Amino acid sequence: MNSETKTDAAVYPPSADFAASAHVDADRYAELYKASIEDPEGFWAEEAKRIDWIKPFSTVKDVNFDLGNVSIKWFEEGTLNVAANCIDRHLETRGDQTAIIWEPDEPNDEAQHITYRQLHRSVCKMANILEDMGVRKGDRVVIYLPMIPEAAYAMLACARIGAIHSVVFAGFSPDALGARINGCDAKVVITADFAPRGGKKTALKSNTDKALLHCKDTVKCLMVRRTGEQTTWVDGRDHDYNELAIEADDHSAPVEVGAEDPLFILYTSGSTGQPKGVVHSSGGYLVYTAMTHQMTFDYHEGDIYWCGADVGWVTGHSYILYGPLANGATTLMFEGVPTYPDAGRFWQIVAKHGVNQFYTAPTALRALMGQGNEWVEKHDLSSLKVLGTVGEPINPEAWNWYYKVVGKEKCPIVDTWWQTETGGHLLTPLPGATPLKPGSATKPFFGVQPVVLDPHTGQEIAETKAEGVLCLKDSWPAQMRTVWGDHERFEKTYFSDYKGYYFSGDGCRRDADGDYWITGRVDDVINVSGHRMGTAEIESALVAHEKVAEAAVVGYPHEIKGQGIYAYVTLMSGQEPSEDLRKELEQFVRSEIGPIAKPDLIQWAPGLPKTRSGKIMRRILRKIAEDDYGSLGDTSTLADPSVVDDLIEHRMNRK
Ligand code: WTA
Repeated sequence: MNSETKTDAAVYPPSADFAASAHVDADRYAELYKASIEDPEGFWAEEAKRIDWIKPFSTVKDVNFDLGNVSIKWFEEGTLNVAANCIDRHLETRGDQTAIIWEPDEPNDEAQHITYRQLHRSVCKMANILEDMGVRKGDRVVIYLPMIPEAAYAMLACARIGAIHSVVFAGFSPDALGARINGCDAKVVITADFAPRGGKKTALKSNTDKALLHCKDTVKCLMVRRTGEQTTWVDGRDHDYNELAIEADDHSAPVEVGAEDPLFILYTSGSTGQPKGVVHSSGGYLVYTAMTHQMTFDYHEGDIYWCGADVGWVTGHSYILYGPLANGATTLMFEGVPTYPDAGRFWQIVAKHGVNQFYTAPTALRALMGQGNEWVEKHDLSSLKVLGTVGEPINPEAWNWYYKVVGKEKCPIVDTWWQTETGGHLLTPLPGATPLKPGSATKPFFGVQPVVLDPHTGQEIAETKAEGVLCLKDSWPAQMRTVWGDHERFEKTYFSDYKGYYFSGDGCRRDADGDYWITGRVDDVINVSGHRMGTAEIESALVAHEKVAEAAVVGYPHEIKGQGIYAYVTLMSGQEPSEDLRKELEQFVRSEIGPIAKPDLIQWAPGLPKTRSGKIMRRILRKIAEDDYGSLGDTSTLADPSVVDDLIEHRMNRK
């Protein structure tokens, strides 16, 4: 039996008990999905009632996917305030309910339980502080914070005053931060003194100081004291959040914004050039994240929900903050890492707070799986009802471990496929409705129309069983609207390869049951520990080093990270390869982009395989990195075939 048939064969239908109390069972899924496709306007007009509108919309949907005229609008005339939807409207009914449970890095430090009323106060104060610093509706604010409650306050405060936030992951370097501040012309950057994580500390304020050296001198900095340690201080530019919060007014009227006004920008890697600023809307985004949060996780009133992502990624935006809070949920925010102080930390937190839904990335599961089951078994995980994964395909071994050891074969696993660009889940099982298959993201969410295209002809494959590139035929409310400042790039990236469709950049297979299996990126984007990275970005960091003439980066299979970073480096003539230089280059990439971009393997390449027109043949480099050089395919277009023999001979040991 080959592995494909084997994995296809394992099917776990929802239990009757679970289905009976779920928001959506199989019949309801079929009925609602049909309605959502046959009458999208009617369907989404109804779903839009999930949120409070200030002025109603009259047009549900106005979408054009044609290259040159791409335009995506939902609920266009409607106005709202996102923060009021996430906080104010809950005050009367659940003011004293916990909105956010904050679990600090050190297990012995006290967790915080922040009620909706307290959240309201803190967000209003932050909103007033930002307004006092000159931030107005439509202005951009960069947020470079650890996973602390103030990150949530900052995002919601921006939403309250109609400012657009752009969160930068705290693991990014000063250069990456500076580029993002400049990229969206931010007025203010919000940071912390230090970011404790896994027992270590990142000096965020000092990174911010370095970044600001390359920004306009009008950019102001608001600093949250997380550890209280000494930092440098620039009078006039730097503002002390903790001091200002004492005096700040705790009332702030939510600003009315249009449904299509941007809520946030989030930079993400693509296959070419600099990261793109993905722009999300206010109205459609909130409707869709609220709905998917409730249905994908089968969230019920009173449940304790935990998404283990970082607010620096889209998962943190949609499924730590906006979706859950729009639903009046209790959402847990964790500052640390899964393996600190030991490999039982996740499960200790689940037991401590009685977590009902838990959502994480396969890479974390693979890392924990290797540490032994005792770390899981010593904690009481009986509160768990639904488990989720996101960010990369989950291999069946990790799925089975999650299902058996963590979920005790009682918790459905929702394998959610989506992207920064999609705002929310597009393919996912619904736990009371969908038969699960380890490794498959199964079926489309309501309103979502996936298609598999033949990559060569660009035609839709009509048969159920299909393999090709994954595209979307029509819009959904949380779709990104544009690339910040570059609508042409938006169109070119997502709408030019396959005319009339949104192109995801992922390959996929659809099996005979119509279930989708993501096979990974078909472009030059790699997925390292669930983090998306453009190989072009790492290459340009490498060639920025004075001793490097040329570099080519590809992914290779990595047991824990999913994909590892394999870099081929050609040195300037006269430079000698050495271990010291290898370390220097690793360090260089860390400081240019951040620790997540550090190459795992660097191979010294006297030459790179190129076509006669000078194009690097990445396919060959990928094969060598994958240790699969027996099947290099067509090499007849190589300018100098001997280059390949040298690369094979000196390939790196992947262990
Ligand atoms: C990959 C993260 C397989 C995919 C929300 C996508 C997945 C990219 C899955 C987006 C999944 C995400 N199964 N692959 N369940 N979820 N991916 O923008 O390649 O950081 O295009 O968004 O991650 O990554 P991003």
